[in-house]
Amino acid sequence: MKLPETQLALLEATGATDRTPVGALAEELGEDPAAITRAAFELEAAGLVDVEERAVEDVALTEEGERYREAGLPELRLRAAAAEAGADDSPAEMGRLVGQSGLEGPEVDIALSNLARKGYGEIDGGAIALGEDPRYDPEADPEAAALESVAAGEADAVATDVLDRLESRGLIERTETTARSVTLTDEGVTALMEGVEAAETVGAVTPELLTSGEWSEVEFTEYNVEADAETVNGGKTHILRQTANRVKDVLVGMGFREMEGPHADADFWINDCLFMPQDHPARTHWDRFALDVPPMEELPADLLERVEDAHRNGVGSEGDGYHSPWDADFARAVALRGHTTSLSMRYLSGQAAGDLEPPERYFSVEKVYRNDTLDPTHLLEFFQIEGWVMAEELSVRDLMGTFTEFYEQFGITDLEFKPHYNPYTEPSFELFGRHPETDELIEIGNSGIFREEVLSPLGVECDVMAWGLALERLLMLMYGFEDIRDVHGTLCDLDLLRNVEVVY
Ligand code: PHE
Repeated sequence: MKLPETQLALLEATGATDRTPVGALAEELGEDPAAITRAAFELEAAGLVDVEERAVEDVALTEEGERYREAGLPELRLRAAAAEAGADDSPAEMGRLVGQSGLEGPEVDIALSNLARKGYGEIDGGAIALGEDPRYDPEADPEAAALESVAAGEADAVATDVLDRLESRGLIERTETTARSVTLTDEGVTALMEGVEAAETVGAVTPELLTSGEWSEVEFTEYNVEADAETVNGGKTHILRQTANRVKDVLVGMGFREMEGPHADADFWINDCLFMPQDHPARTHWDRFALDVPPMEELPADLLERVEDAHRNGVGSEGDGYHSPWDADFARAVALRGHTTSLSMRYLSGQAAGDLEPPERYFSVEKVYRNDTLDPTHLLEFFQIEGWVMAEELSVRDLMGTFTEFYEQFGITDLEFKPHYNPYTEPSFELFGRHPETDELIEIGNSGIFREEVLSPLGVECDVMAWGLALERLLMLMYGFEDIRDVHGTLCDLDLLRNVEVVY
């Protein structure tokens, strides 16, 4: 019998009675474990060895776990400081103990909550008293002992509930791997006794093999497409960007064209054109990111005049203005756009793409910036799916129909609509979708039909329905994550970002 070299070496190194782990064989033969695994599978297919597979758990300390192993668990450090300060007699002031224990930043909260959980101390009004009846002897804290065991590679000896706790504290990481071991089959033993020779096999064609003609003589190594391979995490397009591209494709499919325009724009385009009074609360410095740059001088003079007139006097014979100050310099100030409706104004006015004749449909999927408070559903910047349709005789039914058709493409079919107020649209409504995990209704967009006070100065004579939808919220409904910070920034969920595929 002839076998490729690696297989022969493996066959000879494999015992007939004891199972030998693939890792040990690889080490003994000085080969890459993946190559030995491949060879083992090939020998198994030929009936010469048995490969046994077992799931094993690998436990390792995280960086934080390693830090606590060296410096002590935060709660034990705090307990030690309290004991030293005589907190068994009278409670010691917390700030002092924190200082003495050298705890920093988030470690303080970690220390306090675990101190209470383990009964090492009682916290009352900013002071700590030593716990009367601690759950463990602080000298023999099971979590501290477990950190040592894990570091020594003896995680097997640690109770599962302690490992669970360390995992939930983020101090250890468990990974499942497959351990393989091999033994000779009877056939393998017989083959070895009868004698096996090395057949030279070639892993890849080289220029030399081709020019010498040798390629036609040699035996090539077979591929085993079922063998484990190392996970390679290459770069990939972020799911937010993937979804943005998909949204663009869907809207283009629905007959829309894409708008583009500046992220930093004059307040005129962001607010004044939208009939937002200059003293509107959303226009204060709290809410916008004002930029310290020269004002935008090049605004169309005639449009500026008509917008000012709409603000001061209203539009039409019944119209009434805001009776509040209006100042062109205020309109020229530059800020980061809080919505991409600024782009809609640039296009509807004819400023961006020339005069438009109805029917027209435009969209953008672009970043907007808001001075919000960070929380699970709000970021300081997000992507807005802006869009509008210009046509005769539009109604709320047209808007609802457009949304239904659009969201259906993403598998979202249970939209809800709620009446709303915008200074620039009448009627207006907000759009809600149901979160697949929490079942909560979450707001996913805002929309309406532009008022005369907006359209008339722009010179638009038919109806325009418009909307701004949040791309991140659409993503939440599609993938069920609950915190927007799972996809943005330093707290992001790498597994989600690596594994989710945006399907068309
Ligand atoms: N600008 C609105 C927002 O950011 C969305 C919107 C656009 C509403 C156009 C109505 C019309 O919430």
